[in-house]
Amino acid sequence: MAPTLTHSNYDLVVQQLIPGYASLARLAVSLLAASPLASATGSAVLVAGCGTGAELLEARSQRPDWQLTAIDPAVEMLTVARQRLAQDGLDGAAAGAINWRQSTIEELDAPAAFDGALSVLVLQSLADDGAKLAFLTALARSLRPGGQLVLVDLMRSERSPLQAQVEQAWLGFQRASGLTAAAEALDALSQGLHPIGLARLTSLVNAAGFCDPALVFKALDVEGFLLQRRA
Ligand SMILES: C[S@@+](CC[C@H](N)C(=O)[O-])C[C@H]1O[C@@H](n2cnc3c(N)ncnc32)[C@H](O)[C@@H]1O
Repeated sequence: MAPTLTHSNYDLVVQQLIPGYASLARLAVSLLAASPLASATGSAVLVAGCGTGAELLEARSQRPDWQLTAIDPAVEMLTVARQRLAQDGLDGAAAGAINWRQSTIEELDAPAAFDGALSVLVLQSLADDGAKLAFLTALARSLRPGGQLVLVDLMRSERSPLQAQVEQAWLGFQRASGLTAAAEALDALSQGLHPIGLARLTSLVNAAGFCDPALVFKALDVEGFLLQRRA
Protein backbone atom coordinates (compact mmCIF):
# COMPACT_ATOMS: atom_id res chain seq x y z
CA MET A 1 0.00 0.00 0.00
CA ALA A 2 1.21 3.51 -0.76
CA PRO A 3 2.32 5.50 2.28
CA THR A 4 0.33 8.56 3.30
CA LEU A 5 2.52 11.48 4.29
CA THR A 6 1.76 12.55 7.86
CA HIS A 7 3.67 14.66 10.35
CA SER A 8 4.91 11.48 12.09
CA ASN A 9 6.27 9.60 9.03
CA TYR A 10 7.12 12.69 6.94
CA ASP A 11 10.88 12.72 7.46
CA LEU A 12 11.34 9.06 6.52
CA VAL A 13 8.90 8.88 3.60
CA VAL A 14 9.84 12.17 1.96
CA GLN A 15 13.44 10.96 1.62
CA GLN A 16 12.21 7.86 -0.20
CA LEU A 17 9.92 9.89 -2.46
CA ILE A 18 11.98 12.92 -3.42
CA PRO A 19 15.36 12.49 -5.11
CA GLY A 20 17.97 14.58 -3.35
CA TYR A 21 15.68 15.51 -0.45
CA ALA A 22 18.49 15.05 2.08
CA SER A 23 20.47 17.79 0.31
CA LEU A 24 17.64 20.22 -0.47
CA ALA A 25 17.70 22.14 2.82
CA ARG A 26 21.52 22.28 2.88
CA LEU A 27 21.65 23.60 -0.66
CA ALA A 28 18.80 26.07 -0.13
CA VAL A 29 20.43 27.54 2.97
CA SER A 30 23.85 27.73 1.29
CA LEU A 31 22.35 29.57 -1.65
CA LEU A 32 20.53 32.09 0.51
CA ALA A 33 23.58 32.59 2.73
CA ALA A 34 25.49 33.69 -0.38
CA SER A 35 22.82 36.24 -1.40
CA PRO A 36 23.57 39.98 -1.22
CA LEU A 37 21.25 40.79 1.70
CA ALA A 38 21.09 37.57 3.73
CA SER A 39 24.88 37.17 3.72
CA ALA A 40 25.05 39.97 6.32
CA THR A 41 25.41 38.95 9.96
CA GLY A 42 22.12 38.86 11.87
CA SER A 43 19.93 38.89 8.75
CA ALA A 44 16.20 38.28 9.16
CA VAL A 45 15.19 35.11 7.31
CA LEU A 46 11.73 33.66 6.75
CA VAL A 47 11.13 29.91 6.37
CA ALA A 48 7.73 29.67 4.66
CA GLY A 49 6.15 26.23 5.08
CA CYS A 50 8.78 24.98 7.52
CA GLY A 51 7.09 21.57 7.90
CA THR A 52 9.06 19.36 10.28
CA GLY A 53 12.01 21.75 10.36
CA ALA A 54 14.58 20.54 7.80
CA GLU A 55 15.50 24.05 6.61
CA LEU A 56 15.48 25.41 10.17
CA LEU A 57 17.95 22.78 11.39
CA GLU A 58 20.22 23.51 8.47
CA ALA A 59 19.94 27.29 8.89
CA ARG A 60 20.77 27.03 12.60
CA SER A 61 23.77 24.91 11.77
CA GLN A 62 25.14 27.02 8.89
CA ARG A 63 24.05 30.48 10.06
CA PRO A 64 23.41 30.57 13.82
CA ASP A 65 23.40 34.39 13.58
CA TRP A 66 20.25 34.54 11.41
CA GLN A 67 17.06 35.82 13.02
CA LEU A 68 14.65 33.09 11.94
CA THR A 69 10.89 33.22 11.54
CA ALA A 70 9.29 29.80 10.94
CA ILE A 71 5.78 29.72 9.57
CA ASP A 72 3.41 26.86 8.80
CA PRO A 73 -0.39 26.56 9.06
CA ALA A 74 -0.20 22.92 10.29
CA VAL A 75 0.17 22.80 14.05
CA GLU A 76 1.31 19.12 13.98
CA MET A 77 4.20 19.99 11.64
CA LEU A 78 5.21 22.94 13.84
CA THR A 79 5.15 20.69 16.92
CA VAL A 80 7.50 18.16 15.28
CA ALA A 81 9.77 20.98 14.06
CA ARG A 82 9.97 22.53 17.54
CA GLN A 83 10.80 19.13 19.08
CA ARG A 84 13.56 18.48 16.52
CA LEU A 85 15.13 21.89 17.05
CA ALA A 86 14.92 21.52 20.83
CA GLN A 87 16.43 17.99 20.69
CA ASP A 88 19.38 19.33 18.78
CA GLY A 89 19.66 22.19 21.26
CA LEU A 90 19.17 24.62 18.41
CA ASP A 91 15.85 26.33 19.12
CA GLY A 92 17.25 29.02 21.38
CA ALA A 93 20.76 28.91 19.91
CA ALA A 94 23.03 31.87 19.46
CA ALA A 95 21.12 34.91 18.25
CA GLY A 96 17.87 34.03 20.01
CA ALA A 97 14.79 31.89 19.84
CA ILE A 98 13.08 31.17 16.56
CA ASN A 99 9.95 33.21 16.00
CA TRP A 100 7.32 30.46 15.45
CA ARG A 101 4.06 31.37 13.70
CA GLN A 102 1.14 29.06 13.00
CA SER A 103 -0.11 30.75 9.85
CA THR A 104 0.00 30.77 6.10
CA ILE A 105 2.38 33.20 4.47
CA GLU A 106 -0.64 34.96 2.96
CA GLU A 107 -1.87 35.77 6.50
CA LEU A 108 1.51 37.01 7.66
CA ASP A 109 1.48 40.78 7.56
CA ALA A 110 5.15 41.69 7.64
CA PRO A 111 5.95 43.98 4.71
CA ALA A 112 9.66 44.21 3.82
CA ALA A 113 10.57 42.51 7.11
CA PHE A 114 13.01 39.91 5.74
CA ASP A 115 16.40 39.88 4.03
CA GLY A 116 15.78 36.44 2.57
CA ALA A 117 13.31 33.57 2.51
CA LEU A 118 13.20 29.83 1.90
CA SER A 119 10.23 27.89 0.59
CA VAL A 120 10.83 24.20 -0.06
CA LEU A 121 8.10 21.94 -1.55
CA VAL A 122 5.21 24.28 -0.67
CA LEU A 123 4.07 26.08 -3.86
CA GLN A 124 3.44 22.70 -5.55
CA SER A 125 0.48 21.98 -3.25
CA LEU A 126 -1.36 25.22 -4.12
CA ALA A 127 -3.77 25.32 -7.06
CA ASP A 128 -3.01 27.66 -9.96
CA ASP A 129 -6.35 29.41 -9.47
CA GLY A 130 -4.98 32.51 -7.75
CA ALA A 131 -3.58 30.59 -4.76
CA LYS A 132 -0.06 30.28 -6.21
CA LEU A 133 -0.03 33.98 -7.11
CA ALA A 134 -1.28 34.98 -3.65
CA PHE A 135 1.45 32.87 -2.01
CA LEU A 136 4.24 34.32 -4.19
CA THR A 137 2.91 37.88 -3.81
CA ALA A 138 2.90 37.52 -0.02
CA LEU A 139 6.48 36.23 -0.13
CA ALA A 140 7.64 39.10 -2.35
CA ARG A 141 5.90 41.62 -0.09
CA SER A 142 7.59 40.19 3.00
CA LEU A 143 11.07 40.67 1.47
CA ARG A 144 13.08 43.87 1.39
CA PRO A 145 13.71 45.08 -2.18
CA GLY A 146 16.66 43.06 -3.48
CA GLY A 147 15.96 40.26 -1.00
CA GLN A 148 16.04 36.73 -2.39
CA LEU A 149 13.79 33.71 -2.09
CA VAL A 150 15.10 30.19 -2.63
CA LEU A 151 12.13 28.31 -4.07
CA VAL A 152 12.29 24.53 -4.42
CA ASP A 153 9.34 22.78 -6.01
CA LEU A 154 8.09 19.89 -8.08
CA MET A 155 7.84 21.20 -11.65
CA ARG A 156 5.88 19.93 -14.63
CA SER A 157 8.37 18.86 -17.28
CA GLU A 158 7.97 19.94 -20.83
CA ARG A 159 6.87 17.01 -23.01
CA SER A 160 9.97 15.22 -24.13
CA PRO A 161 10.87 11.84 -25.57
CA LEU A 162 12.79 11.28 -22.34
CA GLN A 163 9.76 11.76 -20.08
CA ALA A 164 8.90 8.06 -19.86
CA GLN A 165 12.50 7.32 -18.93
CA VAL A 166 12.43 10.01 -16.22
CA GLU A 167 9.27 8.49 -14.73
CA GLN A 168 10.85 5.03 -14.76
CA ALA A 169 13.94 6.44 -13.11
CA TRP A 170 11.81 8.05 -10.40
CA LEU A 171 10.15 4.70 -9.67
CA GLY A 172 13.55 3.04 -9.59
CA PHE A 173 14.81 5.68 -7.16
CA GLN A 174 11.87 5.08 -4.83
CA ARG A 175 12.20 1.28 -4.91
CA ALA A 176 15.94 1.52 -4.28
CA SER A 177 15.16 3.82 -1.34
CA GLY A 178 13.01 1.12 0.24
CA LEU A 179 9.50 2.07 -0.88
CA THR A 180 7.77 -1.23 -1.55
CA ALA A 181 4.78 0.31 -3.34
CA ALA A 182 6.72 2.83 -5.39
CA ALA A 183 4.24 3.06 -8.28
CA GLU A 184 1.34 3.75 -5.92
CA ALA A 185 3.47 6.17 -3.93
CA LEU A 186 4.31 8.18 -7.04
CA ASP A 187 0.66 8.20 -7.95
CA ALA A 188 -0.38 9.24 -4.43
CA LEU A 189 2.29 11.91 -4.39
CA SER A 190 0.97 13.49 -7.56
CA GLN A 191 -2.60 13.58 -6.17
CA GLY A 192 -3.30 17.00 -4.76
CA LEU A 193 -0.18 18.53 -6.29
CA HIS A 194 -0.28 21.25 -8.93
CA PRO A 195 3.10 21.43 -10.65
CA ILE A 196 3.57 24.09 -13.31
CA GLY A 197 6.12 24.62 -16.07
CA LEU A 198 8.87 27.23 -16.23
CA ALA A 199 6.93 29.65 -18.49
CA ARG A 200 4.00 29.74 -16.06
CA LEU A 201 6.30 30.07 -13.04
CA THR A 202 8.06 33.00 -14.71
CA SER A 203 4.77 34.75 -15.40
CA LEU A 204 3.55 34.21 -11.81
CA VAL A 205 6.76 35.36 -10.11
CA ASN A 206 6.93 38.46 -12.33
CA ALA A 207 3.33 39.34 -11.43
CA ALA A 208 4.17 38.77 -7.75
CA GLY A 209 7.06 41.28 -7.81
CA PHE A 210 10.12 39.10 -8.48
CA CYS A 211 12.63 39.22 -11.33
CA ASP A 212 12.85 36.19 -13.66
CA PRO A 213 13.61 32.93 -11.83
CA ALA A 214 17.17 31.59 -12.08
CA LEU A 215 17.33 27.78 -12.14
CA VAL A 216 20.10 26.70 -9.77
CA PHE A 217 19.54 22.96 -9.46
CA LYS A 218 17.38 20.09 -10.66
CA ALA A 219 16.92 16.42 -9.67
CA LEU A 220 14.42 14.78 -12.01
CA ASP A 221 11.37 17.09 -11.73
CA VAL A 222 12.36 18.76 -8.45
CA GLU A 223 13.88 22.13 -9.29
CA GLY A 224 15.46 24.90 -7.24
CA PHE A 225 15.24 28.57 -8.19
CA LEU A 226 16.64 31.84 -6.94
CA LEU A 227 14.12 34.68 -7.08
CA GLN A 228 15.00 38.27 -6.30
CA ARG A 229 12.45 40.85 -5.24
CA ARG A 230 12.51 43.75 -7.64
CA ALA A 231 14.02 46.91 -6.23
C1 LIG B 1 5.60 19.14 1.75
S1 LIG B 1 5.72 20.13 3.19
C2 LIG B 1 7.38 20.76 3.06
C3 LIG B 1 7.97 21.04 4.42
C4 LIG B 1 9.47 21.43 4.41
N1 LIG B 1 9.67 22.69 3.73
C5 LIG B 1 10.30 20.36 3.77
O1 LIG B 1 10.84 20.57 2.70
O2 LIG B 1 10.39 19.28 4.35
C6 LIG B 1 4.76 21.58 2.82
C7 LIG B 1 4.45 22.43 4.05
O3 LIG B 1 3.91 23.67 3.62
C8 LIG B 1 2.88 24.06 4.51
N2 LIG B 1 2.02 25.04 3.79
C9 LIG B 1 1.00 24.77 2.93
N3 LIG B 1 0.45 25.92 2.50
C10 LIG B 1 1.15 26.95 3.07
C11 LIG B 1 1.04 28.37 3.00
N4 LIG B 1 0.11 28.96 2.26
N5 LIG B 1 1.92 29.12 3.73
C12 LIG B 1 2.87 28.51 4.49
N6 LIG B 1 3.00 27.15 4.59
C13 LIG B 1 2.15 26.38 3.89
C14 LIG B 1 2.21 22.74 4.87
O4 LIG B 1 1.47 22.83 6.06
C15 LIG B 1 3.40 21.81 4.97
O5 LIG B 1 3.92 21.72 6.28
